[in-house]
Amino acid sequence: MAQKPATLQIGIVGFGHLGQFLTEKIQKDGVDAGLSLAFVWNRNPEKLKGAVPEELVLHSLQDFPQRGADVIVEVCHPQIVKDFGAQFLSKSHFLVGSPSALSDPDLNQQLRHAAKHHGRTLYVPSGALWGGQDIQKLNDCGTLTALLVRMSKHPSCFRLAKDLLGAWKEDEGRRVLISGSVADICPIAPNNVNTMAAAAIAGSTLGFTGVRGELVSDTALRDYHVVEVEVTGVDGFTVKTVRMNPAKIGAVTGNATYNSFWSSLLLCTGHGGRVYLC
Ligand SMILES: NC(=O)c1ccc[n+]([C@@H]2O[C@H](COP(=O)([O-])OP(=O)(O)OC[C@H]3O[C@@H](n4cnc5c(N)ncnc54)[C@H](O)[C@@H]3O)[C@@H](O)[C@H]2O)c1
Repeated sequence: MAQKPATLQIGIVGFGHLGQFLTEKIQKDGVDAGLSLAFVWNRNPEKLKGAVPEELVLHSLQDFPQRGADVIVEVCHPQIVKDFGAQFLSKSHFLVGSPSALSDPDLNQQLRHAAKHHGRTLYVPSGALWGGQDIQKLNDCGTLTALLVRMSKHPSCFRLAKDLLGAWKEDEGRRVLISGSVADICPIAPNNVNTMAAAAIAGSTLGFTGVRGELVSDTALRDYHVVEVEVTGVDGFTVKTVRMNPAKIGAVTGNATYNSFWSSLLLCTGHGGRVYLC
């Protein structure tokens, strides 16, 4: 009889929208998917009461090694990636839900080094990025020459560190908020540009400084986020994709991105000491 593969133990760090979705999904479908919960951590553990069995609640994040997780999933905040990313990689594979954190070149280097040194994989979920694997292939062949990611959303969907939006009116239409390198945009809109960050990781020869991004506010987008990707290669090669991602008004994350995250998690079975877009 064929042997059933071992169950992967998953640690969830953060219990907001994505953390709750993934925790519930593992509890519901984990047995069939070969996943089970090693722990769930949230900075306010009260939020976990009733949703997570007490024995799976991790009270102090420093104690994560005691739970023996195979994969740690950060769905929390870029600061946690900075504070704990390298430690996570010393014990487990690491799915970084906030890849905008990697726009910091020192942290990017530190995590790549930790992955290589410990032989563990730093997974970057493709999120709302369409064609990430194709971009990565072009990149790896050395034939990627330019990459642009334009993200357009209703103004209520933006969470910006700098007030680029100002006062807005429901009938104002389309407005480009910022256009520049992904490195410049990530610190201004860390929660809105994880898709751009994933593109900068897939297109690593251009990287965060070479991949261009654009954030557009559009009051007509009451039901969708729009993600446009423009890829340019050598000899006139171009690909343009437009993804319409259904999203509730005011939501930072499009509906389809939740399932995309789950699919990404299913791929986190270990790909050696490197960065892997999944
Ligand atoms: N990769 C992608 O495509 C993608 C898509 C959506 C969201 N994200 C990112 O994933 C993360 C979680 O998203 P979400 O929609 O679940 O967010 P959320 O706001 O619903 O939840 C975030 C959770 O983290 C906690 N938190 C916030 N700041 C913290 C800090 N500094 N230290 C410790 N805990 C903190 C909050 O209390 C909350 O429980 C965010 O960083 C977001 O930008 C990535």
